[in-house]
Amino acid sequence: MSNKNKLQRFAEVAMLPNVFENHEFHDPHIDDAMGNRMDIKGHWNDLVFKTARPIILELACGKGEYTTHLAQAHPENNYIGIDIKGARIWIGATMADKLGLDNVAFLRIRIELIEAFFAENEVSEIWITFPDPFLRDSKSNRRLTSHPFLDRYLGVLKPGAIVHLKTDDPTLYAFTQDVLAERKDYKILETTADFYGDVIPSPETHLLTFYEKQHLAAGKKITYTRFVKI
Ligand SMILES: C[S@@+](CC[C@H](N)C(=O)[O-])C[C@H]1O[C@@H](n2cnc3c(N)ncnc32)[C@H](O)[C@@H]1O
Repeated sequence: MSNKNKLQRFAEVAMLPNVFENHEFHDPHIDDAMGNRMDIKGHWNDLVFKTARPIILELACGKGEYTTHLAQAHPENNYIGIDIKGARIWIGATMADKLGLDNVAFLRIRIELIEAFFAENEVSEIWITFPDPFLRDSKSNRRLTSHPFLDRYLGVLKPGAIVHLKTDDPTLYAFTQDVLAERKDYKILETTADFYGDVIPSPETHLLTFYEKQHLAAGKKITYTRFVKI
């Protein structure tokens, strides 16, 4: 994508009706039609979706393929794609808008701030698809399945909520197994180092994202882990 396109999308993304962001990135409010500040934390269903449905997050959503795909397949749920990159979110948000999906929103924040934007027990499920693996040991706390991130998810997930991780990266896969083995508050339900070899993918889990297509074309194996908040 050219720099011009990126900048244009970056400017436009905040104008889309289904995208939420705060300039300061740590101020969890939206403005209502009258310009009143409303606290978004704990109020996604009443303020944004206007319908009480389970809330499902896609973290590091990029173009939000899972968010839009799952939202079409499951109108009984509300989906929120989260990423820091506005030009990528623009693609998913524009698509959801064109499709007229009333159960999709996007939030442009750093995932580190998730607890500022969602209340305790507000989230029913999380998808993490092909996150950056942050391969250097010194950056392992930035991996989305590191202890600090799992602690943050505990603050927003309901008990019994499922977390899905798909990754092509063997280091991130092994790291995730090790971290989960140390936790008493999460339990692995299913894990495979060769997703397409071992599992008959469900309509949900077989969706190929932009990055998954690239990894498969490069001959990489896709791994999958499903775990639950106890
Ligand atoms: C490799 S891409 C994967 C995108 C998409 N899930 C896919 O499979 O095509 C990783 C994405 O994670 C986002 N990301 C990484 N760390 C993040 C963080 N701490 N907060 C928000 N977004 C983050 C990046 O902006 C990028 O869009």
